[in-house]
Amino acid sequence: MARNIYGLDLGSYEIKVYDKKKDTIWKEKDVIAIADKNEIFAVGDDAYEMYEKAPSNIEVVFPMKEGVISRFNNMQFLLQNLLKKDRQFARGSEYVIAVPTDVTEVEKKAFFDLVIHSTARAREVNIVERSIADAVGLNLDVKNTGGLFIANFGGETTELSVLAGGGMVMNRLLKIGGVSFDLAVVNLVRHSHDFLIGRLTAEVLRKNFGIFTSDSESVLTVAGRDLITGVPMQKPISISLVRAAMKDPLLECVRAIHSLLDRTPPEVRRAIHENGIFLTGGVANMAGLETYIEEMVGIKTRTALDPDICAVTGLKKIIMSKDLRKLAYSMLDENYRWMR
Ligand SMILES: Nc1ncnc2c1ncn2[C@@H]1O[C@H](COP(=O)(O)OP(=O)(O)OP(=O)(O)O)[C@@H](O)[C@H]1O
Ligand SMILES: [Mg+2]
Repeated sequence: MARNIYGLDLGSYEIKVYDKKKDTIWKEKDVIAIADKNEIFAVGDDAYEMYEKAPSNIEVVFPMKEGVISRFNNMQFLLQNLLKKDRQFARGSEYVIAVPTDVTEVEKKAFFDLVIHSTARAREVNIVERSIADAVGLNLDVKNTGGLFIANFGGETTELSVLAGGGMVMNRLLKIGGVSFDLAVVNLVRHSHDFLIGRLTAEVLRKNFGIFTSDSESVLTVAGRDLITGVPMQKPISISLVRAAMKDPLLECVRAIHSLLDRTPPEVRRAIHENGIFLTGGVANMAGLETYIEEMVGIKTRTALDPDICAVTGLKKIIMSKDLRKLAYSMLDENYRWMR
């Protein structure tokens, strides 16, 4: 049987996988539920179902934190199980993994170790900088471009990258993502209404209201707990409150985009002004993000078609094309000699 090739984008919120043999992309929540401190109770979407609802003996764990692997053993177990689950994954396969750039070499190598030292018995593991995978997913000509700016708005991180001539010119991984927006909403609702809502409820509010639409009247009634009486109840939350909560984390992203552009060499910056800014990552689905960034930064901004699977779509193309394959490299290469 010919060996299979998998493309992996391991997000803090969702794992995205490309399976070459089946030619499919699937995603599943990056979550594991542990009962009584050591027994694995559920993985992936099933474990996420229990988030904020689980009894006290079940801990719902997100093994990735802010874009890097924080609980290695849990992550390895989760990945092995997801690949096994109905998907009959083949041992001895090849893996191409998208990794963030602005992390330490040790954090980067953990992605490599995760697969190479697992029961998957990987035959070969190559890595691709995630923004490069994003650019390929966007159908951009990574090799011949004079300058590209990509912002990946993920669950716990926002990765900003300047690419030119096939390489990374500048990169920054901000620890701001969908979860930061959710928590900002939870906090503001608590302070202004003495009303406690869960993070998932905040996510529903945020997804419904978006960022930059002409609507300023909408209200959504959500469940929570009144902090004065302690009684569970429903309260209407206004769009303006949710927008106000998201303002600070959004401004921080805009400031980081400005500061990266300020440090970009002039010719590359000129090309970026011509080509525009590209948005990827799940949060880029939020209505109005594109317009907001465009207005705040003053550069034409576009969003990937399916922004959350843009990087893994890029991995698919890299796996399929001999030419693009060169964008993937092994951590056992000459450049990584010190790690052997
Ligand atoms: N339609 C939508 N509107 C608003 N937000 C959305 C929508 N769909 C997904 N999201 C948000 O996207 C985020 C997940 O995006 P993504 O899958 O890119 O993250 P990730 O890759 O797992 O995380 P990271 O890249 O930070 O490690 C979540 O916070 C989720 O709330
Ligand atoms: Mg991501």
